[in-house]
Amino acid sequence: MEFYSDKQQITTAIGVLKTKRLTLGLVPTMGALHEGHLQLVKKALDNNDKVVVSIFVNPTQFDNHEDLEKYPRTLKNDLDLLKTVSKEDIIVYAPTVDDIYEGKTVSQSFDFEGLEFEMEGKFRDGHFDGVGTVVKRFFDIVKPHNAYFGEKDFQQLQIIKKLVEKARIPVNVVGCKIHREASGLAMSSRNTRLKPAYKKVVPFIYETLTTAKKHFGTNSANKVLKWVENQFTKHDLLELEYFIIADVKTLKPVKRKSNKKSYRAFIAVYADDIRLIDNIALN
Ligand code: PAJ
Repeated sequence: MEFYSDKQQITTAIGVLKTKRLTLGLVPTMGALHEGHLQLVKKALDNNDKVVVSIFVNPTQFDNHEDLEKYPRTLKNDLDLLKTVSKEDIIVYAPTVDDIYEGKTVSQSFDFEGLEFEMEGKFRDGHFDGVGTVVKRFFDIVKPHNAYFGEKDFQQLQIIKKLVEKARIPVNVVGCKIHREASGLAMSSRNTRLKPAYKKVVPFIYETLTTAKKHFGTNSANKVLKWVENQFTKHDLLELEYFIIADVKTLKPVKRKSNKKSYRAFIAVYADDIRLIDNIALN
Protein backbone atom coordinates (compact mmCIF):
# COMPACT_ATOMS: atom_id res chain seq x y z
CA MET A 1 0.00 0.00 0.00
CA GLU A 2 1.41 3.38 -0.97
CA PHE A 3 1.53 5.99 1.80
CA TYR A 4 2.15 9.74 1.46
CA SER A 5 2.07 12.56 3.94
CA ASP A 6 3.54 15.12 1.59
CA LYS A 7 1.62 16.97 -1.12
CA GLN A 8 4.49 17.04 -3.60
CA GLN A 9 5.02 13.31 -3.35
CA ILE A 10 1.39 12.37 -3.80
CA THR A 11 1.06 14.86 -6.67
CA THR A 12 3.92 13.07 -8.44
CA ALA A 13 2.41 9.64 -7.75
CA ILE A 14 -0.95 10.78 -9.11
CA GLY A 15 0.72 12.22 -12.19
CA VAL A 16 2.07 8.73 -12.93
CA LEU A 17 -1.40 7.16 -12.58
CA LYS A 18 -2.90 9.78 -14.87
CA THR A 19 -0.34 9.09 -17.61
CA LYS A 20 -1.39 5.43 -17.40
CA ARG A 21 -5.02 6.59 -17.83
CA LEU A 22 -6.14 4.79 -14.69
CA THR A 23 -9.44 5.79 -13.07
CA LEU A 24 -9.05 7.27 -9.65
CA GLY A 25 -11.46 7.28 -6.70
CA LEU A 26 -11.15 9.42 -3.58
CA VAL A 27 -12.50 8.61 -0.12
CA PRO A 28 -11.91 11.56 2.22
CA THR A 29 -11.87 10.61 5.92
CA MET A 30 -10.70 11.88 9.27
CA GLY A 31 -9.37 8.44 10.18
CA ALA A 32 -10.40 6.35 13.20
CA LEU A 33 -11.66 4.10 10.46
CA HIS A 34 -14.48 1.64 10.96
CA GLU A 35 -16.57 -0.66 8.78
CA GLY A 36 -18.68 2.32 7.58
CA HIS A 37 -15.59 3.93 6.05
CA LEU A 38 -14.47 0.59 4.62
CA GLN A 39 -17.79 0.23 2.77
CA LEU A 40 -16.99 3.49 0.96
CA VAL A 41 -13.47 2.26 0.16
CA LYS A 42 -14.84 -1.08 -1.16
CA LYS A 43 -17.35 0.69 -3.38
CA ALA A 44 -14.59 2.97 -4.67
CA LEU A 45 -12.36 -0.04 -5.41
CA ASP A 46 -15.20 -1.70 -7.35
CA ASN A 47 -15.50 1.30 -9.64
CA ASN A 48 -11.94 2.64 -9.97
CA ASP A 49 -8.47 1.29 -10.76
CA LYS A 50 -6.90 3.05 -7.76
CA VAL A 51 -8.38 4.63 -4.65
CA VAL A 52 -6.89 7.44 -2.59
CA VAL A 53 -8.02 7.36 1.03
CA SER A 54 -7.22 10.63 2.75
CA ILE A 55 -6.81 10.60 6.51
CA PHE A 56 -6.83 14.08 7.99
CA VAL A 57 -8.47 15.47 11.12
CA ASN A 58 -9.42 18.82 9.65
CA PRO A 59 -9.13 21.58 12.27
CA THR A 60 -11.22 24.15 10.39
CA GLN A 61 -14.42 22.09 10.57
CA PHE A 62 -14.40 21.89 14.38
CA ASP A 63 -15.99 24.77 16.27
CA ASN A 64 -15.19 23.09 19.56
CA HIS A 65 -11.52 22.88 20.48
CA GLU A 66 -12.06 20.02 22.93
CA ASP A 67 -13.86 17.94 20.29
CA LEU A 68 -10.88 18.46 17.95
CA GLU A 69 -8.39 17.51 20.67
CA LYS A 70 -10.35 14.43 21.65
CA TYR A 71 -10.98 13.24 18.10
CA PRO A 72 -9.48 9.71 17.98
CA ARG A 73 -6.26 9.40 15.99
CA THR A 74 -5.46 5.78 15.21
CA LEU A 75 -3.26 5.84 12.11
CA LYS A 76 -1.60 2.44 12.58
CA ASN A 77 -4.90 0.70 13.09
CA ASP A 78 -6.39 2.60 10.11
CA LEU A 79 -3.61 1.33 7.84
CA ASP A 80 -4.07 -2.24 9.09
CA LEU A 81 -7.79 -2.06 8.36
CA LEU A 82 -7.21 -0.66 4.86
CA LYS A 83 -4.72 -3.47 4.13
CA THR A 84 -7.50 -6.00 4.82
CA VAL A 85 -9.43 -4.42 1.93
CA SER A 86 -6.59 -4.09 -0.61
CA LYS A 87 -2.82 -4.01 -0.45
CA GLU A 88 -2.35 -3.10 -4.12
CA ASP A 89 -4.89 -0.51 -5.09
CA ILE A 90 -5.15 1.84 -2.12
CA ILE A 91 -3.05 4.98 -1.79
CA VAL A 92 -3.18 6.61 1.63
CA TYR A 93 -2.68 10.34 1.93
CA ALA A 94 -2.28 11.43 5.55
CA PRO A 95 -1.01 15.01 5.40
CA THR A 96 -0.04 17.32 8.25
CA VAL A 97 -2.05 20.45 8.97
CA ASP A 98 0.74 22.52 7.42
CA ASP A 99 0.79 20.42 4.27
CA ILE A 100 -2.88 21.28 3.70
CA TYR A 101 -3.14 24.80 5.12
CA GLU A 102 0.41 26.10 4.53
CA GLY A 103 0.53 28.10 7.76
CA LYS A 104 -2.95 29.66 7.43
CA THR A 105 -5.43 27.39 9.18
CA VAL A 106 -8.54 29.23 8.02
CA SER A 107 -11.55 28.35 5.90
CA GLN A 108 -12.64 29.74 2.62
CA SER A 109 -16.18 31.10 2.82
CA PHE A 110 -18.76 29.36 0.60
CA ASP A 111 -22.28 29.99 -0.61
CA PHE A 112 -24.03 26.61 -0.66
CA GLU A 113 -27.37 28.26 -1.50
CA GLY A 114 -28.77 27.89 1.98
CA LEU A 115 -27.91 24.20 2.52
CA GLU A 116 -25.26 25.30 5.01
CA PHE A 117 -27.71 27.13 7.28
CA GLU A 118 -29.90 24.14 8.13
CA MET A 119 -29.40 21.50 10.85
CA GLU A 120 -25.66 20.98 11.47
CA GLY A 121 -25.06 24.51 10.17
CA LYS A 122 -27.17 25.92 13.00
CA PHE A 123 -25.28 24.04 15.69
CA ARG A 124 -21.74 23.91 14.34
CA ASP A 125 -20.48 27.37 13.49
CA GLY A 126 -18.34 27.47 10.33
CA HIS A 127 -18.43 23.69 10.02
CA PHE A 128 -19.37 23.50 6.34
CA ASP A 129 -16.92 26.21 5.30
CA GLY A 130 -14.26 24.02 6.92
CA VAL A 131 -15.51 20.88 5.17
CA GLY A 132 -15.79 22.69 1.82
CA THR A 133 -12.29 24.11 2.15
CA VAL A 134 -10.61 20.80 2.90
CA VAL A 135 -12.57 18.71 0.40
CA LYS A 136 -11.92 21.23 -2.38
CA ARG A 137 -8.22 21.05 -1.45
CA PHE A 138 -8.28 17.24 -1.71
CA PHE A 139 -10.06 17.46 -5.07
CA ASP A 140 -7.35 19.86 -6.28
CA ILE A 141 -4.50 17.62 -5.13
CA VAL A 142 -5.92 14.20 -6.04
CA LYS A 143 -8.03 15.14 -9.10
CA PRO A 144 -10.22 12.04 -8.70
CA HIS A 145 -12.75 10.86 -11.29
CA ASN A 146 -15.10 9.72 -8.50
CA ALA A 147 -15.39 10.75 -4.85
CA TYR A 148 -17.30 8.84 -2.18
CA PHE A 149 -19.28 10.27 0.73
CA GLY A 150 -21.62 8.59 3.22
CA GLU A 151 -25.30 9.36 3.68
CA LYS A 152 -24.50 9.22 7.39
CA ASP A 153 -23.57 12.88 6.89
CA PHE A 154 -26.35 13.55 4.42
CA GLN A 155 -26.15 17.33 4.67
CA GLN A 156 -22.39 17.14 4.00
CA LEU A 157 -23.06 14.95 0.93
CA GLN A 158 -25.56 17.48 -0.48
CA ILE A 159 -23.15 20.33 0.23
CA ILE A 160 -20.29 18.59 -1.57
CA LYS A 161 -22.58 18.04 -4.57
CA LYS A 162 -23.39 21.76 -4.50
CA LEU A 163 -19.68 22.67 -4.19
CA VAL A 164 -18.82 20.55 -7.22
CA GLU A 165 -21.70 21.96 -9.25
CA LYS A 166 -20.97 25.60 -8.42
CA ALA A 167 -17.16 25.42 -8.72
CA ARG A 168 -17.49 23.15 -11.80
CA ILE A 169 -15.10 20.59 -10.41
CA PRO A 170 -14.85 17.62 -12.80
CA VAL A 171 -15.61 14.86 -10.29
CA ASN A 172 -18.53 12.48 -9.89
CA VAL A 173 -19.81 12.54 -6.29
CA VAL A 174 -21.16 9.18 -5.15
CA GLY A 175 -23.38 8.84 -2.07
CA CYS A 176 -23.15 5.62 -0.01
CA LYS A 177 -25.73 4.07 2.34
CA ILE A 178 -25.37 4.35 6.11
CA HIS A 179 -23.58 1.38 7.63
CA ARG A 180 -24.94 0.35 11.03
CA GLU A 181 -23.94 -1.80 13.97
CA ALA A 182 -26.12 -4.89 14.55
CA SER A 183 -28.01 -2.77 17.12
CA GLY A 184 -28.96 -0.25 14.43
CA LEU A 185 -26.60 2.43 15.74
CA ALA A 186 -24.99 4.26 12.81
CA MET A 187 -21.27 3.52 12.83
CA SER A 188 -19.17 6.50 13.83
CA SER A 189 -15.63 7.14 14.99
CA ARG A 190 -17.19 8.79 18.03
CA ASN A 191 -18.90 5.55 19.13
CA THR A 192 -15.64 4.25 20.60
CA ARG A 193 -15.76 7.06 23.17
CA LEU A 194 -19.17 6.04 24.56
CA LYS A 195 -19.14 4.86 28.15
CA PRO A 196 -20.81 1.46 28.70
CA ALA A 197 -24.07 2.89 30.13
CA TYR A 198 -24.44 5.11 27.06
CA LYS A 199 -23.36 2.40 24.64
CA LYS A 200 -26.34 0.40 25.90
CA VAL A 201 -28.93 3.09 25.27
CA VAL A 202 -27.78 4.73 22.01
CA PRO A 203 -29.58 2.20 19.74
CA PHE A 204 -32.66 4.12 20.91
CA ILE A 205 -31.75 6.81 18.36
CA TYR A 206 -32.26 4.56 15.33
CA GLU A 207 -35.24 2.82 16.92
CA THR A 208 -36.88 6.23 17.27
CA LEU A 209 -36.06 7.09 13.66
CA THR A 210 -37.62 3.88 12.33
CA THR A 211 -40.78 4.38 14.41
CA ALA A 212 -40.92 8.03 13.31
CA LYS A 213 -40.79 6.78 9.72
CA LYS A 214 -43.84 4.57 10.38
CA HIS A 215 -45.70 7.49 11.97
CA PHE A 216 -44.83 9.74 9.05
CA GLY A 217 -46.88 7.51 6.74
CA THR A 218 -50.14 8.49 8.48
CA ASN A 219 -49.40 11.64 10.49
CA SER A 220 -48.40 15.23 9.83
CA ALA A 221 -44.72 16.14 10.12
CA ASN A 222 -45.57 18.26 13.15
CA LYS A 223 -47.17 15.34 14.96
CA VAL A 224 -44.11 13.21 14.30
CA LEU A 225 -41.83 15.98 15.60
CA LYS A 226 -43.82 16.25 18.81
CA TRP A 227 -43.81 12.48 19.26
CA VAL A 228 -40.01 12.28 18.87
CA GLU A 229 -39.41 15.22 21.20
CA ASN A 230 -41.58 13.53 23.79
CA GLN A 231 -39.60 10.27 23.51
CA PHE A 232 -36.43 12.11 24.40
CA THR A 233 -37.99 14.22 27.15
CA LYS A 234 -38.80 10.91 28.84
CA HIS A 235 -35.30 9.55 28.30
CA ASP A 236 -32.90 9.69 31.26
CA LEU A 237 -29.55 9.63 29.48
CA LEU A 238 -29.98 10.92 25.95
CA GLU A 239 -30.48 14.58 25.19
CA LEU A 240 -32.10 15.57 21.91
CA GLU A 241 -30.42 18.50 20.17
CA TYR A 242 -32.65 18.52 17.08
CA PHE A 243 -35.06 16.35 15.15
CA ILE A 244 -36.08 17.68 11.77
CA ILE A 245 -38.05 16.37 8.84
CA ALA A 246 -36.72 18.01 5.71
CA ASP A 247 -36.98 18.06 1.95
CA VAL A 248 -33.92 16.16 0.66
CA LYS A 249 -33.16 18.77 -2.01
CA THR A 250 -33.35 22.00 0.00
CA LEU A 251 -32.88 20.47 3.49
CA LYS A 252 -35.53 22.93 4.66
CA PRO A 253 -37.96 21.65 7.28
CA VAL A 254 -41.22 20.40 5.75
CA LYS A 255 -44.29 22.48 6.43
CA ARG A 256 -46.93 20.62 4.44
CA LYS A 257 -46.26 17.15 3.02
CA SER A 258 -46.31 16.74 -0.76
CA ASN A 259 -46.40 13.40 -2.60
CA LYS A 260 -44.02 14.80 -5.17
CA LYS A 261 -41.17 15.43 -2.74
CA SER A 262 -38.71 13.18 -0.94
CA TYR A 263 -38.24 13.64 2.76
CA ARG A 264 -35.71 12.53 5.34
CA ALA A 265 -35.68 12.75 9.09
CA PHE A 266 -32.48 14.07 10.70
CA ILE A 267 -31.47 13.80 14.32
CA ALA A 268 -28.65 14.96 16.60
CA VAL A 269 -28.40 13.62 20.14
CA TYR A 270 -26.00 14.07 23.00
CA ALA A 271 -24.99 10.88 24.82
CA ASP A 272 -23.05 12.40 27.71
CA ASP A 273 -20.64 14.80 25.95
CA ILE A 274 -20.66 12.82 22.72
CA ARG A 275 -22.71 14.18 19.87
CA LEU A 276 -24.25 11.58 17.56
CA ILE A 277 -26.12 12.20 14.30
CA ASP A 278 -28.26 9.94 12.16
CA ASN A 279 -30.93 10.17 9.46
CA ILE A 280 -33.45 8.06 7.61
CA ALA A 281 -35.33 8.28 4.29
CA LEU A 282 -39.04 8.67 4.97
CA ASN A 283 -40.62 8.08 1.57
P1 PAJ B 1 -15.44 11.14 8.60
O1 PAJ B 1 -16.38 11.45 9.70
O2 PAJ B 1 -14.20 10.38 8.90
O3 PAJ B 1 -16.23 10.38 7.48
C1 PAJ B 1 -15.63 10.07 6.25
C2 PAJ B 1 -16.71 9.57 5.30
O4 PAJ B 1 -17.25 8.35 5.82
C3 PAJ B 1 -17.89 10.57 5.20
O5 PAJ B 1 -18.29 10.65 3.85
C4 PAJ B 1 -18.94 9.93 6.07
O6 PAJ B 1 -20.26 10.28 5.71
C5 PAJ B 1 -18.66 8.46 5.84
N1 PAJ B 1 -19.20 7.63 6.94
C6 PAJ B 1 -18.90 7.71 8.25
N2 PAJ B 1 -19.62 6.82 8.96
C7 PAJ B 1 -20.40 6.18 8.06
C8 PAJ B 1 -21.38 5.14 8.17
N3 PAJ B 1 -21.72 4.62 9.33
N4 PAJ B 1 -21.97 4.72 7.03
C9 PAJ B 1 -21.64 5.27 5.82
N5 PAJ B 1 -20.74 6.24 5.67
C10 PAJ B 1 -20.13 6.69 6.75
O7 PAJ B 1 -16.98 13.22 7.10
C11 PAJ B 1 -15.81 13.44 7.36
O8 PAJ B 1 -14.96 12.52 7.91
C12 PAJ B 1 -15.15 14.78 7.09
O9 PAJ B 1 -16.10 15.80 7.22
C13 PAJ B 1 -14.48 14.85 5.70
C14 PAJ B 1 -15.46 14.68 4.54
C15 PAJ B 1 -13.35 13.82 5.59
C16 PAJ B 1 -13.81 16.26 5.53
O10 PAJ B 1 -12.88 16.50 6.54
